[in-house]
Amino acid sequence: MARHRSHPLPQIVRRLAPVALRDDPRVRALAVGSGLIPPRTMHTAAEAALLRELARGCGSVVEIGVYEGSSAVVLVRTLGRAATLHLIDPFGHQPGACAQAGRRPSGPRAVWWRAPAP
Ligand SMILES: C[S@@+](CC[C@H](N)C(=O)[O-])C[C@H]1O[C@@H](n2cnc3c(N)ncnc32)[C@H](O)[C@@H]1O
Repeated sequence: MARHRSHPLPQIVRRLAPVALRDDPRVRALAVGSGLIPPRTMHTAAEAALLRELARGCGSVVEIGVYEGSSAVVLVRTLGRAATLHLIDPFGHQPGACAQAGRRPSGPRAVWWRAPAP
């Protein structure tokens, strides 16, 4: 069963924000990275369940294509402390947006892999 975490800014309030503000990558990076809002969910509940099933007990997991980190959060909540979660997204526009994925003290070590700056 999916575990839901509450965020300081409820969805009903978030919906009041103009679309241009809601979709601005820098605003989203700040809001998601600070824990004010959750990352955009890019998977179904069934896909999240499959991710948990596949990741459970693994020592090393690689996610290619992280975006704001919604599936990374699922993986962080599934993997144990001895595990390492490698997050790869060289084209991500939300450099600080995946912070929530690394916020579980008993969870895995999260390692970000990004393309070097040109
Ligand atoms: C649909 S989003 C991923 C959603 C994410 N897994 C989640 O659950 O929120 C696709 C992501 O893949 C990244 N991407 C596209 N091509 C890639 C590549 N060749 N290697 C790594 N990441 C890539 C994009 O920057 C984008 O953030």
